[in-house]
Amino acid sequence: MLLVLGRIVHCLRRELIEVIQEGFVIVGDSKIVATGKKEDLEQARAQHLADEQDVMVVMLSDRQLLIPGLVDSHIHAPQYPNCGLGYDKPLLDWLQAYTYKLERKYRDLEYSKKVFNAVVRKTLNHGTTTACYFASMFEDASMILVDAVIEHGQRAFVGKINMTTLAPDDYKETPEETIKLTRKFIEAVRSKNCDLVEPIITPRFALSLEMDSMVELGHLVKEYDVNVQTHISENQDEVKEVNKKYGIQYANVYDEAGLLTPKTVLAHGIYLSDEELSLLRQRGSSVSHCPDSNTCLKSGMCDVRRLFNFGIKVGLGTDVSGGPSPSIVSAMRSALATSINLSFSQKNYKPLNYMDVFYLATLGGAEALSLDHKIGNFEVGKEFDALVVDMGAENCNTDMLLDCSPLELLQKFIYTGDDRNISNVFVAGKSVK
Ligand code: GUN
Ligand code: FE
Repeated sequence: MLLVLGRIVHCLRRELIEVIQEGFVIVGDSKIVATGKKEDLEQARAQHLADEQDVMVVMLSDRQLLIPGLVDSHIHAPQYPNCGLGYDKPLLDWLQAYTYKLERKYRDLEYSKKVFNAVVRKTLNHGTTTACYFASMFEDASMILVDAVIEHGQRAFVGKINMTTLAPDDYKETPEETIKLTRKFIEAVRSKNCDLVEPIITPRFALSLEMDSMVELGHLVKEYDVNVQTHISENQDEVKEVNKKYGIQYANVYDEAGLLTPKTVLAHGIYLSDEELSLLRQRGSSVSHCPDSNTCLKSGMCDVRRLFNFGIKVGLGTDVSGGPSPSIVSAMRSALATSINLSFSQKNYKPLNYMDVFYLATLGGAEALSLDHKIGNFEVGKEFDALVVDMGAENCNTDMLLDCSPLELLQKFIYTGDDRNISNVFVAGKSVK
């Protein structure tokens, strides 16, 4: 059993943050069994810890905070070596000039192992307790990412990429292969019997496949009851190409294939029309907002306020290596910047604040991945995925601050913090940093 004592901040739902100045969380195995204020601790101890010999106690200082683990709802593991490269090119040119050239190297399984271990280690250190990964087009390399996730103890969705067209000849599959290997991948991941990792169907985007293949993937979604991830409406040239290829709006392409489900997460979604947003809302599909990437590749500014107004679930993504940083804290800051920039050109626009991006990075991400029954905050019964944020670390100079409330520590972390301020990371009750 684990008992954490200290300042706690988490979101009960969007626009509702709970702050416990002196609080506790009791964790049994992987799940939260009790949580509350200091005055209720004795009773909770008697009820849950009375016969326990083996209680690990973590006592936080007044410069530390317990927050839920961060959720990266969109990250490309094999692109990690390319972080920071090629941002002079727009999306479609960047894919050809940089991305596919790197990704085809993952035929080499030793290289795959080296990169994937580094990605999982790095993202955990930055506080990503749950990641939704685009892995490789190659099924065997994708399994290496699955093994890395299990070994390091991260929670993750891992998807083998489907792509049969608009890519170099040595980096695409036939329509038969893409379905056969996806099936093989799903079964191989499930046979690992690990609660933390799940397969996810991953058509790269509407320009990487023909409709027939997407329809077949839609059948796999039903057959295996799996989540889905893909890209949507990221770049204006991309949207034009999709409209030209299919003669319908972008979201309708995926809908026609049966790929818009309540367990579908769509990266970017910058240029979606009102009709497309209504369709997403109807289907219960969500958007992964990737502001670092949208700025670096000059894709555009996604209006998260508009998505909220349409009732769409939203999480945050680093989109490594469209985004240069593996950190969701960086994504929080960029989401703030994008929203503030949008507010300059719209009357009465309410930009996101630090509490909104905290929600996006935690409970919002859990909702976007349909994991909110399991993670996202400290409700009793959920898995204990958490970070100890330490604003006493020397990079933030909080020792010179006179007084600091929990919400001020949270602001400091979001605006000035990084991996040096994450002193402990828990996934399913286990310390992994
Ligand atoms: N659209 C299709 N593939 C990709 C990718 O790898 N990264 C980004 N950002 N957009 C894409
Ligand atoms: Fe992406």
